[in-house]
Amino acid sequence: MKILVTGGAGFIGSHIAEYLIQHGDDVTILDNLNTGKLDNLVKINDKINFVNGDIRDYKVLEKLVNDTDGVFHEAALASVQQSFSMKDEYFDVNVTGTENILKLAKEYGFKIVYASSSSVYGNPTKIPIKEDDDRKPINPYAQTKLDSEYLAKKYSESGVSVVGLRYFNVFGHRQSNEYAGVIKLFLEKIKQEIPPKINGDGLQTRDFVHIGDVVRANILAMESNTKDGFFNVGTGHSISILDLANLVISASGLSLEPIHGQELSGDVRATQADTALIRKLLKWEPKMRLDYWLTEIISNKNFQDI
Ligand SMILES: NC(=O)c1ccc[n+]([C@@H]2O[C@H](COP(=O)([O-])OP(=O)(O)OC[C@H]3O[C@@H](n4cnc5c(N)ncnc54)[C@H](O)[C@@H]3O)[C@@H](O)[C@H]2O)c1
Repeated sequence: MKILVTGGAGFIGSHIAEYLIQHGDDVTILDNLNTGKLDNLVKINDKINFVNGDIRDYKVLEKLVNDTDGVFHEAALASVQQSFSMKDEYFDVNVTGTENILKLAKEYGFKIVYASSSSVYGNPTKIPIKEDDDRKPINPYAQTKLDSEYLAKKYSESGVSVVGLRYFNVFGHRQSNEYAGVIKLFLEKIKQEIPPKINGDGLQTRDFVHIGDVVRANILAMESNTKDGFFNVGTGHSISILDLANLVISASGLSLEPIHGQELSGDVRATQADTALIRKLLKWEPKMRLDYWLTEIISNKNFQDI
């Protein structure tokens, strides 16, 4: 199959591209290297067509998709904190950029599987969170993800095949500083044998899902007969940041206590996915557990794997 991965030099996009190459697909990556890195593509750079360009550039996009079978759309500006001071640019890339791909899908007939986010829910009133629960974003980044969902729904009603995956907190090799950055920060401290630092009281909870599971969700969504809708991609389990810090410390065998700093603005209090819908319709289930992965890295001192 001929596939375009936008944001393919980033964390999630590069793992999707690696999977596709391993399975014999013809892969083009469009990325402006804003946060993405060519280093993320070392395993596959002689097998892909890499285009350094911007999803806001309709003409560039059109050249890449006019004969494509599908698009995995991962490109976005993805920092909650930065989105407060760069609202217009976040809207432009995340919403206008996404609409470019939707318009082209309508014209050329390819399917889109794209990255939405659990942040569309804001601070949930019920845990675990179901796909049709309230969506009340509490920061500009999350608002752009919700605006993109409205567009995706509108285009799907006019015949475009587009599936949105609401990733929870994705962790794994090459992970970005957003979402699961806390894991990276904690491991960096443990490597230096100093205490991990928690923002706020540490009682905020997160549903961490492994990159391998996220890639599988993307592939299943692309291959399935499902033509529309939004799916939670989380494990259905959550851990508090305090417990995460203690888990990392205990796996290291060091005698440390976490330290606490200021709470971050725009940080949601709790996330935990209800995964019934994705299990049922896409036959997906998470396989990698965070505690196994962390213990493996820390006990083997495999810190280059983050
Ligand atoms: N990592 C997570 O836990 C998580 C959770 C929820 C949603 N998401 C979403 O998943 C997607 C991938 O996230 P990630 O963690 O891999 O982040 P990332 O920053 O590693 O990847 C994003 C990629 O998009 C590229 N990009 C940014 N603006 C672009 C533009 N205008 N044109 C072309 N390329 C552009 C960047 O250079 C980067 O390579 C994003 O849409 C993000 O919002 C991620």
